Amino acid sequence: MKVAKRSYDAVIVGAGGAGLRAALQLSEAGLKTAVLTKVFPTRSHTVAAQGGVAASLGNSTEDNWHWHMYDTVKGSDWLGDQDAIEFMCKKANEVVVELEHYGMPFDRLDNGKIYQRPFGGHSQNYGKTPVSRSCAAADRTGHAMLHALYQRNVRANTQFFVEWMALDLIRDADGDVVGVTAMEMETGEVSIFHAKATIFATGGAGRIYYSSTNAFINTGDGVGMAARAGVPLEDMEFWQFHPTGVAGAGVLITEGVRGEGGILRNSSGDRFMERYAPNLKDLASRDVVSRAMTTEINEGRGCGTDKDHVLLDITHLSPDTIMKRLPGIREISIQFAGIDPIKAPIPVVPTCHYQMGGIPTNYKGQVVAPKDGNASSPVAGFYAAGECACASVHGANRLGTNSLLDLLVFGKSAGETVVEDIKSGNLSLKALPEDAADLALARMARLENQTNGTDVHEVRLAMQRTMQKHAGVFRFSDLLKEGVTKIMEVAEQAKHTQIKDKSKVWNTARMEALELDNLIEVAKATMTSAEARKESRGAHVRDDAPDTAEFPNGRRDDEWLKHTLWYSEGNRLDYKPVNLQPMSEDVDPIALATRTY
Ligand code: FUM
Repeated sequence: MKVAKRSYDAVIVGAGGAGLRAALQLSEAGLKTAVLTKVFPTRSHTVAAQGGVAASLGNSTEDNWHWHMYDTVKGSDWLGDQDAIEFMCKKANEVVVELEHYGMPFDRLDNGKIYQRPFGGHSQNYGKTPVSRSCAAADRTGHAMLHALYQRNVRANTQFFVEWMALDLIRDADGDVVGVTAMEMETGEVSIFHAKATIFATGGAGRIYYSSTNAFINTGDGVGMAARAGVPLEDMEFWQFHPTGVAGAGVLITEGVRGEGGILRNSSGDRFMERYAPNLKDLASRDVVSRAMTTEINEGRGCGTDKDHVLLDITHLSPDTIMKRLPGIREISIQFAGIDPIKAPIPVVPTCHYQMGGIPTNYKGQVVAPKDGNASSPVAGFYAAGECACASVHGANRLGTNSLLDLLVFGKSAGETVVEDIKSGNLSLKALPEDAADLALARMARLENQTNGTDVHEVRLAMQRTMQKHAGVFRFSDLLKEGVTKIMEVAEQAKHTQIKDKSKVWNTARMEALELDNLIEVAKATMTSAEARKESRGAHVRDDAPDTAEFPNGRRDDEWLKHTLWYSEGNRLDYKPVNLQPMSEDVDPIALATRTY
């Protein structure tokens, strides 16, 4: 196959919030910037973010970034790096106001300021009372954000390659990143994007699970490419299950519903969160609420014929509030559950939502990885931001609305770093290795030549069912152990997937096979890292690490206050310390404590 070559200052993979924000920084600085995206930019998965973006503007209730930082560290169960968390919380107001100036149509208070609503785990005064910190555009915040950022990028002449799928990272003999290979979906042709800087903003990989709020495009492409290229993946055992996916459909019902006053009830109509989180109740952190719901269901207090869900009740809110603040939720509920939430409660279950781990980065968006077995240092030419990256600001559990904040802050920061690196001459166009396209071409050839192989959909389903059963909301040591064996077997099958009738297939079938290569890296990393972490922390709760007086909540700081690093080659694990030190000398570290809400 002939391989075309294109050269840029920077190539960005992914056109969601992080990719668009990074691209804007580069294009406005006059750099030649290409953005590759599997879908039209405004259809990227950021579009599904509903409830808002966190910033301590204090428009409705008193607030400041120190409180936000405290909530984020506590939410992360102390696994988040405090330098990066300080950076993110301090920058929040700036990036939100910037967005406002780009034309983002936030809802407004009567005084004209941006409307803010309460969200889980966000508080005033170091955990005392709920705070309104989530800046919202009704329940379509991500949608509004993508439109504002895309339009701004068009103005700045960012060059978009729409319906292109990146295939593999290109590293030279020094290990530096010099671009990516990519397939144009319409023609199936492979091209090289040669660049001084490569930024991954490919989003999450929630499709490794059977039940997920994630779009079909969320296949961990950046994470898979990084893993295949020898970059370790950080903290992949930590997955967030959002408390409120529509039962049976998985579609997200924003936490903003509870922010507006929604209440979770069991089959007796009890507001059960009062028992699990007496202070913040339904607005406790997501992992806490998801476990409480699962416990209610497991103990027979679930609703419906199969007692397999609970109810989210907003019938006490006025129809006007629902129509004004939660119009999209009403639509989703009617379409996917057949329920008008003005009249009856919505059936909900915890559903896989967000990947806390990812490609290890620092607060500047540089990918950091151990080199020659030594301490971590930046991989020259390689940057990442958003859900595919692990900065690490979410640690073992992310707070709602910190994801949109993450992608704005670190998308911008990665963009700024690349501009500095290029303008200072630190980064130039390095030569492409001779074999730059070989890996991508070999993967494409395998799909064409494989005979007696396995069916892509069957293997993907086997992976999703394995993940759902063996690494779900609660984790069991025997299931995790068995899960590692099973997922390695599925990974073996994934190496031999075959497109059955090539005369009839579209390139989308090839894409699904190539996406599975990425998903399976994420699934292996998740299962292996989870099996190895013998404690409970944040979203990772094991039966053999229970709540005891010596180890409250089952957390073992003596052994496990460290980040996991998983390497694809040899399915190997390593660890690195958590940064408990904030960035500024005059900011006190948030001291380790037991997490209660
Ligand atoms: O519940 C939500 O609106 C989701 C927000 C988030 O994941 O940050």
